Amino acid sequence: LTDTYTLNNGVEIPVVGFGTWQTPDGDVAYQSVKSALDAGYRHIDTAAAYGNEESVGRGIKDSSVDRHDIFLTTKLWNDDHGYESTKQALDVSLQKLETDYVDLYLIHWPNPIKFRDDWEDINAETWRAMEEAYRDGKVRAIGVSNFRPSHLTTLMKTATITPAVNQNYLNPSDMQPEVTRVNAQYNILNEAYSPLGTGELLQVKALQDMATKYQHSVPQVILRWSLQHHFLPLPKSTHADRIKDNTNLFDFKISDEDMQTIDGLHGTTRLATDPDETNF
Ligand code: A2P
Repeated sequence: LTDTYTLNNGVEIPVVGFGTWQTPDGDVAYQSVKSALDAGYRHIDTAAAYGNEESVGRGIKDSSVDRHDIFLTTKLWNDDHGYESTKQALDVSLQKLETDYVDLYLIHWPNPIKFRDDWEDINAETWRAMEEAYRDGKVRAIGVSNFRPSHLTTLMKTATITPAVNQNYLNPSDMQPEVTRVNAQYNILNEAYSPLGTGELLQVKALQDMATKYQHSVPQVILRWSLQHHFLPLPKSTHADRIKDNTNLFDFKISDEDMQTIDGLHGTTRLATDPDETNF
């Protein structure tokens, strides 16, 4: 878990992150983060919209791990797009997380309101504030989430800093080929939320067979597959034993042939929210 990828600005990011979407605020989030740090995670992913930043911050503070040894990500919510509100929202997140910087700050969704035709200008203004926060040292890297190629190429018209990361719903059931292609073009790292398909992929027979073959759990096989694609998976769990189980990914390798078999699951289910159809 101390292995890292290097972002396009030179910052090192641990190759697996601990996801906290749908982790309830309060004791559950607090204990989960502490369990994750105990299990060896050094990368925690949260968001203003998850409503658990305070508990995540407390979990980090009360752990035995130094803040500077942890890679911490949070995200800007849709209501806060725009230059001034982005700056304010970041300050609120920093306050809740009880830290004076985050390692990565992401625009959570590209389209603040469906059919709002000035979203391009608003994203440009939001990004300008994010670039400023980066230059001020409040964030060590900036990026986006749920950005389709069109959102990204539009942002790049005015950006002076290329996003370091694009975080998407990304797992064997949806490999996001177009997004992955445009990310590669800009040297943007693919982060994978819901890497286990929010748990639903654990029931897929082909993956269960693969787990038997490799003598690992289904989540381990899926996360290993993600790493071998050079994705950065962000598995979520609120159970200490599962949190630990999801870290044992480095003592086996999936063969090229089996990677292709898992790739073949692409398109078999579609569980996530499509950013193009999202109305926030
Ligand atoms: P729980 O939080 O109750 O442990 P994703 O990371 O794709 O969002 O998937 C998260 C879901 O998968 C959660 O429902 C989580 O349940 C479940 N999960 C995570 N890791 C494991 C595991 N090792 N074994 C079984 N279920 C898991």
